[in-house]
Amino acid sequence: MRRVSEDLRRALEDPGYTPPRRAFGEMFALLSHPELGERAERALLSAGLPAATYAAETLAQDPAAAEPALVRLVGRAARTHDEPALLEALCKALQSPHAETRRQAAMALGKSGRREAEPALLACLSTTDHKLLRSVVEALGKVGGEDALAQLTALQVPATLRQVADRARLMLERGLGRSQGPAEPIASDRPLPAPLRVSLLCRGGLSELLAEEAASLQPRVESPSEVSLSYAGALGPLLELRLATAVAIAWPLTQGTSPGGVLTALLSAELVAALTAWSNGQLRFRLEWQGAGHRRADTWRIAQGLRDAGSPLLNDPAQAPWTIEVQQDPPRLLLRPSAGADRRFDYRVRDVPAASHPTIAAALARVAGPDAADVVWDPFAGSGVELIERARLGPYRELHGTDLDARALGAARENAEQAGLVGLSLQQADARNHRVPGLSLVLTNPPMGRRVLRARGLSGVLCQVVRNVASQLVPGGRMIWLSPFPDVTARAAADAGLRVERLRSVDLGGFDAELQRFVRAG
Ligand SMILES: C[S@@+](CC[C@H](N)C(=O)[O-])C[C@H]1O[C@@H](n2cnc3c(N)ncnc32)[C@H](O)[C@@H]1O
Repeated sequence: MRRVSEDLRRALEDPGYTPPRRAFGEMFALLSHPELGERAERALLSAGLPAATYAAETLAQDPAAAEPALVRLVGRAARTHDEPALLEALCKALQSPHAETRRQAAMALGKSGRREAEPALLACLSTTDHKLLRSVVEALGKVGGEDALAQLTALQVPATLRQVADRARLMLERGLGRSQGPAEPIASDRPLPAPLRVSLLCRGGLSELLAEEAASLQPRVESPSEVSLSYAGALGPLLELRLATAVAIAWPLTQGTSPGGVLTALLSAELVAALTAWSNGQLRFRLEWQGAGHRRADTWRIAQGLRDAGSPLLNDPAQAPWTIEVQQDPPRLLLRPSAGADRRFDYRVRDVPAASHPTIAAALARVAGPDAADVVWDPFAGSGVELIERARLGPYRELHGTDLDARALGAARENAEQAGLVGLSLQQADARNHRVPGLSLVLTNPPMGRRVLRARGLSGVLCQVVRNVASQLVPGGRMIWLSPFPDVTARAAADAGLRVERLRSVDLGGFDAELQRFVRAG
């Protein structure tokens, strides 16, 4: 056994140790050390490409000396660096006299994602080493092309590898169609062939407001975060609803949520017709199991069942314009178009920390409603989303935004410009004492104090702002906002002579705030 100096031992004990180039040889020699091998491998990995290139040279010169760890090192680098020498070394290692080294090389070539690895892997398909064959087949599923698909289809594999070969073929089939996919895989202008139940999802607490937004479609409020419609139209108008976070076809799982039940639903002609109507090109989807992890084996069973039945649906997590979520309660599928950019809030070119979710800003604006006489103020304007959403609803007399932070005001200015909003006045000022003559509407999403753990004193600041607003609202004027301290701010508003309406609790992403409307008597 090689003697290891105390200095080197100490260096290797440090998890952050990165060996210099001159130490690479010494580190390589330690890879098979029973006690220090793992540490040496970790240190070499942290040295990155230079160590991997050195390892590739070593492998090229003396394949017989190829340690599995050396191959792993090269493989790791080949995932991110398109260096021919790395790939060559891995291909060469496929011929190593050591079984484990050959297997590591096949796995590394698969993970490299490089099509150039295909010929060397194909050359190994005749191996009698079953472990190697398994890794080679898996790798071909990841990096192969038409040749790999043809050879895997013709290949006679032992029974234990049948499933692995099947998966590899499925992966190749779905990969080969990808490059021919349309630029816009979701069709937003074609109607459904028949009325279906369509769900509109939103932030918890906003479903009634979303139902108001979608009123012309006769919506039904299903829960605080869901509205449903019987709908046969095109997808486009639904994607424009500003309060929705997602649109999905809701498909009942009449035969349960087992893989068999899901497969039966996915094979239904009506479901396929609906997806076809709202798609251009292939029906690629990703399967998600609500609250049940990946369930890879079940997903594969379904993918294989679809293929065996000749279904046009193709399970392809890497490039899926549709996400199909399996829900348990009620048992149903949610078929959600996931491709295509959301254009509704494209004006948001700049953000601030704790910026409002734009659907929530849109909801606040909807509660305010368009009144052409309104003088509007957002005292905590941030990036300006509430003011922009209010402006989109209709005319107003004036729009004012203030913030203590000059960068936030810069963001608001840019966003407003993008939104084509003119006449917005932005000023650096304190919400507690700023005044806006003729103020008739305050619309705001204030600081919630999450960052500083319910920042002590924040509730006091928010009450001061309520009093400041109350002191200047014109008769009939309103303040509409989300309060993280609902009881305290409602009391402050009532004490300041405002009529208090506590509308509903809204999920701000893991914590709730109350949507409140305070009105000065007319
Ligand atoms: C929750 S963020 C506003 C988010 C905003 N609606 C958006 O979407 O970007 C709160 C903002 O209030 C500002 N702020 C905090 N205390 C303030 C005060 N006393 N006066 C004015 N602005 C204040 C912060 O700088 C921050 O930009």
